[in-house]
Amino acid sequence: MAVVIPFETHTGTTIDRLVNLVAADMTRVNAAIISCTGSEVTMIPEVANHLIASGGKRLRPMLTVAMAQLSGYGGDGHVKLAAAVEFMHTATLLHDDVVDESSMRRGKLAARMLWGNEASVLVGDFLLGQAFKLMVEVGSLRALEILSSAAAVIAEGEVRQLGTAKNTSTTEDEYLAVIRAKTAELFAAACEVGPVIAGRPKAEQAACRSFGMNLGIAFQLVDDALDYGGKAAKLGKNVGDDFREGKITLPVVLAFRRGSETEREFWRRTLSLGEAADGDLDHAIGLMSKHRALDDTFMRARHYGAIAKDALALFPASPMKEALEEAVEFSIGRTH
Ligand code: IPE
Ligand code: IPE
Ligand code: MG
Ligand code: MG
Repeated sequence: MAVVIPFETHTGTTIDRLVNLVAADMTRVNAAIISCTGSEVTMIPEVANHLIASGGKRLRPMLTVAMAQLSGYGGDGHVKLAAAVEFMHTATLLHDDVVDESSMRRGKLAARMLWGNEASVLVGDFLLGQAFKLMVEVGSLRALEILSSAAAVIAEGEVRQLGTAKNTSTTEDEYLAVIRAKTAELFAAACEVGPVIAGRPKAEQAACRSFGMNLGIAFQLVDDALDYGGKAAKLGKNVGDDFREGKITLPVVLAFRRGSETEREFWRRTLSLGEAADGDLDHAIGLMSKHRALDDTFMRARHYGAIAKDALALFPASPMKEALEEAVEFSIGRTH
């Protein structure tokens, strides 16, 4: 079957405006990140720096800085909180690649392929510890509460996902509960702590949180579509990991529900029984194309992206607000 991947609608939007507005603060965030990976146990900086030096979009810490700026914050606590947010993210990636048995991350071999699963998990724990130290240094109990709750919810989401693995009758609602927890919660917390340390009113804190939550949902929806329709070279991680692993993401949920009994048998064989063979990934993508499962996953992403943008309505027009709106467009249109 010819595989048509419906990705030509991408707008090529960038996050340049956001990058420029947060550039000065992000230089300090990066310095904080580098200074906190040190340890006399040499394997720790080796593993941590392998992943940190490989780049990554730094989207979550940029959001923390952006929301602090949008809130008119004048202190420097946002720099440490942003570094803490990126550490939490890096820790979840180290853990996630072990759980998902992924071999590539940020265009390089995943840390677990070079140092093993044990080191990957333990260095992740170290980074999580460093993240909490940074939060404590900032001295906002409320920010600590928001980010520590997020750490618990992310873990909960990953465990919840174990419960849906290989289960083709997973519903869209169950899938949404997973991605809200494992991904969107950190985006939400990253955004919320900005107005919190700036002492802004509850309504603004809630608005920033909602922006992050809905952007995070959109971001993961796109990530899950790209796992079938993206290009490994751009993504820096392998395409088809979710399929090989039997992960039930929205493209699968939709294709399964919309499929014939024969097609459902295919999904059960490949995902539930784990009997995927050569060519099955292409067939899976073909079925998704037939049932518009990837298109509709992008459509859902656009929907949550629109909610994110509208959440910022109570902030007056500003270059930062426009940059945040552009960041939503980028997240929806991204190919990596
Ligand atoms: C990867 O996040 C994990 C997901 C939530 C999909 P990113 O795509 O933001 O990863 P990096 O930090 O840019 O590598
Ligand atoms: C990422 O989920 C969520 C977390 C890292 C907690 P995925 O497993 O979909 O992310 P990738 O595709 O490995 O980046
Ligand atoms: Mg993964
Ligand atoms: Mg993924």
